[in-house]
Amino acid sequence: MSFDGVPAVFNMSLSVVILAAGQGTRMRSTLPKVLHPLGGFPLLQHVIRAAQQLEPSNIHVVYGHGGERVREALGHEAVNWVLQDQQLGTGHAVDQVMPLVRDNDTLLVLYGDVPLIRAETLRHLVAQAENGGLSVLTATLDDPQGYGRMIRDTGGKLAGIVEQKDASEEQLKIREINTGFLAAPATRLRSWLDQLDNSNAQQEYYLTDVIAMAVADGVAVTSVSAENEHEILGVNDRVQLSTLERVYQRSQAERLMRSGVTLADPGRLDVRGDISTGEDCFIDIGVILDGAITIGNNVKIGSNCLIKNTIIGDGVEILSHCVIEDAEIGAASRIGPFARIRPETRLADHVHVGNFVEIKKSSVDTGSKINHLSYIGDTRMGSKVNVGAGTITCNYDGAYKHLTEIGDDVFIGSDTQLVAPVKVGDGATIGAGSTITREVPSGELVLSRSPQQIRPGWKRPVKKSNQ
Ligand code: UD1
Ligand code: CA
Repeated sequence: MSFDGVPAVFNMSLSVVILAAGQGTRMRSTLPKVLHPLGGFPLLQHVIRAAQQLEPSNIHVVYGHGGERVREALGHEAVNWVLQDQQLGTGHAVDQVMPLVRDNDTLLVLYGDVPLIRAETLRHLVAQAENGGLSVLTATLDDPQGYGRMIRDTGGKLAGIVEQKDASEEQLKIREINTGFLAAPATRLRSWLDQLDNSNAQQEYYLTDVIAMAVADGVAVTSVSAENEHEILGVNDRVQLSTLERVYQRSQAERLMRSGVTLADPGRLDVRGDISTGEDCFIDIGVILDGAITIGNNVKIGSNCLIKNTIIGDGVEILSHCVIEDAEIGAASRIGPFARIRPETRLADHVHVGNFVEIKKSSVDTGSKINHLSYIGDTRMGSKVNVGAGTITCNYDGAYKHLTEIGDDVFIGSDTQLVAPVKVGDGATIGAGSTITREVPSGELVLSRSPQQIRPGWKRPVKKSNQ
């Protein structure tokens, strides 16, 4: 079917129902199937997002098995939750929302476990139904096993759908399948659903039986075919989930590349959230981008980094093996390799964080450097501070966390312990190996170090050869 000439704006009002009450037994999981993540979002959330793009007046989600967990996980979504107590079939599931659907609405039926459906495809499906007809989303598969088959009359017109379990030998050879998605005028659908019975192999009320009813009523039944096969693939087990995950990851990688990011290998990046990127970026292999991430222009991310909920400024370079979470990294900063940036860390521009440095809940101002083997926690650090190797903020007294405040232009010698709460004034210098327990005045040199001793003539013990 051609998609040409489909109007972009709809004048009838649209309601959507997403069926998500099935048990998903084949997942072998205590987690309800529709909550299993794909690209970091629950399966059901992908379907809700696609539906939202159509700007319907209502989205109803039919939930059942493990339903409270589903509602909890997706409680923030602007959808109407409808309980289907017993799973008596797809027709019965749709019937649960009918009292809530207005007569003039077109109703679009989606499945919560078919996550890669695109809004564009749904628009075509809805447009077909807005002339008063019933439209069904179909696909032609090399292997139609398990799906309901589309039955056409000799003239090629749709006559009905027969389920795999109810199909004859001849019908099983049909490769055009029912995706389960359909759109129809609410009043029509209401009367057809009232007539459903469950005299079939599974003793379920099949939504698919409405097609034959529409044909009998002389209502136009049309099919819309999905542009790519992945859109209509459902998740029944974890093997199918992994297949769709790869398809989704490929599409995310392509989106990033089209927006100006060079990927060392599009197959070795994982995107598990909402990522926005600038231009001329480079991402090496083995990188995971999780949650909400904003990346500026000219950013380089080295191999095997895990970055979560982070804002990364222009020109930032993150070297290999960094773990960064809930942080902000200012422009032209350089992080890693092997750095760990923990939640609530804000690095200003031109900050350097080197290997084996951990920073937690701290702010670091412009141009400061923490290059080797340090722990900086609960700290406010000024600009142009140089933190020597092995410097540690002792922020925890066993009961409470305390603040360390470091001014601008401070030089901290290697192996310094800053016992919080403590303040270091602007321009101060701390000698290597110091334990700082009291305020360091601005501009002064401070050190706490035991004097070096020399024992002239001392000899190391030597092991006797006959022992
Ligand atoms: C259904 C279609 C079949 C189609 C296939 C596509 C029917 C009768 N058959 O079969 O033609 O090829 O989908 O994948 O519709 N659900 C409920 N409540 C219920 C039953 C199901 O909410 O009582 C939900 C499930 O959670 C799922 C969807 O409806 O999201 C489909 O149900 P499922 O049992 O998987 O249908 P299939 O037998 O696969
Ligand atoms: Ca099934």
